[in-house]
Amino acid sequence: MLAGTKNYQGIWLDESDPSVVRVIDQNRLPFFFETRELRSVEDVYTAISTMTVRGAPLIGAAAAFGIYLATFELSRNADHVHQLENAARYLVSCRPTAVNLSAALNFVMDRIRNNPADSSLRETALKAALDLCEQEKENCRLIGINGLPLIEDAGKRKNGNPVNILTHCNAGWLASIDYGTALAPVYLAHESGIPVHVWVDETRPRNQGSRLTAWELDQAGVPCTLIADNTGGHLMQHGMVDLVIVGSDRTTIQGDVANKIGTYLKALAAYDNNIPFYSAFPSTTLDFRLNDGLKEIPVEERDEEELVFIEGFNGETIEKIKICPDNVRGANYGFDITPARLIAGLITERGICRPSEKEIRNMFSDKIK
Ligand code: MRU
Repeated sequence: MLAGTKNYQGIWLDESDPSVVRVIDQNRLPFFFETRELRSVEDVYTAISTMTVRGAPLIGAAAAFGIYLATFELSRNADHVHQLENAARYLVSCRPTAVNLSAALNFVMDRIRNNPADSSLRETALKAALDLCEQEKENCRLIGINGLPLIEDAGKRKNGNPVNILTHCNAGWLASIDYGTALAPVYLAHESGIPVHVWVDETRPRNQGSRLTAWELDQAGVPCTLIADNTGGHLMQHGMVDLVIVGSDRTTIQGDVANKIGTYLKALAAYDNNIPFYSAFPSTTLDFRLNDGLKEIPVEERDEEELVFIEGFNGETIEKIKICPDNVRGANYGFDITPARLIAGLITERGICRPSEKEIRNMFSDKIK
């Protein structure tokens, strides 16, 4: 997607140095557009855990490239596949909620286990990481196509007025290599000439909404308005939201969705106001082993520092300022679980299904082991 006048995706191999993987530093946006070099497993671990790269599909892609970078660090005397397995075990521990991380690592490690010849390990790992990126891009492109009719239908009821879509966090191309998940149908609607307007939840504590989603939408020329996290319910009560579309970091077989903290409250408000609430994600976000999201999905708890300080731009640099008394502690839960009963549908690369075990099994029977 466009950043300025140039097309980017969230992660890529450096053209001039194949031992370098490049990413956009999401901790610097929207104030500075900078790319970072990843040269080692440790670089990948740090980039994911500090959220230089974030968003479920992008975390997976970064981890996949992490295994490729691990092939540059192999020590001669020990079993190479075993060393890569250790790198995968290390990388999978950097963020707990998005299942794309383990799905991507399993994808690359399966390829390696099936082709363990030392001479081609690096090639195999690189091809697997690149294939994974292409698959995720295609999944997101299809999510856009499958979600578009929802916006088209809402548009028919608006007599030429914009369809108001509320989204939470950042589930755009920055989070997902290209196109986006929740934002893919929005971009497609905008490109097709359907008037759309997006309410962007700021998404405290890290402000992925105000910093990343607002930036992405603005780059693409999609009209949007930033709102404080608590505003969505009020807008819904006053008929100012037609559709809610969010992403997902992990969806269980019964259709419970883990997404950025605050998503559940939007789903409750949408349900109370009869506004359809959709979650959009590629099948790599489905965790077929889990049923009850509330009991079974691990919810990341991050450092309280992200909460007790707020980051902003002072015109020259990004600054952190404290927002509470010194003695007060913060509890920083990264995600919450939206139960299936509050969700109108799941938008995937294969189409839209209801969040029920029956429909998820029907749609993805070939992927369930
Ligand atoms: O903590 P983050 O910024 O990685 O959380 C991201 C989200 O919650 C997104 O909504 C999710 O990853 C959807 S992916 C396109």
